[in-house]
Amino acid sequence: MTAKKTTQPTSAGAPRSIAPEVAEQVAEQLTPVVIDLMALATDGKQAHWHVRGPAFQDVHELLDVVVVNARNAADLAAERVIAMGAAIDARSGTVGKKATTPAIAEGFLTTEQAITEIVGVIDATLVTVRAAIDALEEIDPVSQDTAIQIAAGLDKDRWFLAAHLPTS
Ligand SMILES: [Fe+2]
Repeated sequence: MTAKKTTQPTSAGAPRSIAPEVAEQVAEQLTPVVIDLMALATDGKQAHWHVRGPAFQDVHELLDVVVVNARNAADLAAERVIAMGAAIDARSGTVGKKATTPAIAEGFLTTEQAITEIVGVIDATLVTVRAAIDALEEIDPVSQDTAIQIAAGLDKDRWFLAAHLPTS
């Protein structure tokens, strides 16, 4: 009878196969992604509340879908880092200081303005996610896969929003 192999946790319950320095490098790449996604979730809600005009109901509801997707994507990236044994800083103050997303306009927004503003926030987030995808290629393919999934989701949300804009 062979002895049952047990997996002893290393630091913070991380799998033994993951070196702490790899976890730290992944945290370095995915933290900016989480921060921008949290900013997108906040600004998406702001736009959801303040949008008015043609196709109100559609755009109002779609913005909430974007918010839920951004939160879920942030959760996916953050939990990948935690699963590897590293910590993440996505406190509200840190998000406010470090997000690369553009500030959106204050107050009420036409449907076109709301879409344009949030598409701009998604575009900035995608730049951050694409940089993480490139860097993670050499660091950890599993974490890179997480970033790829997030980029695909953002591309789709961007499309759904932008499809409401008049074609020029
Ligand atoms: Fe609502």
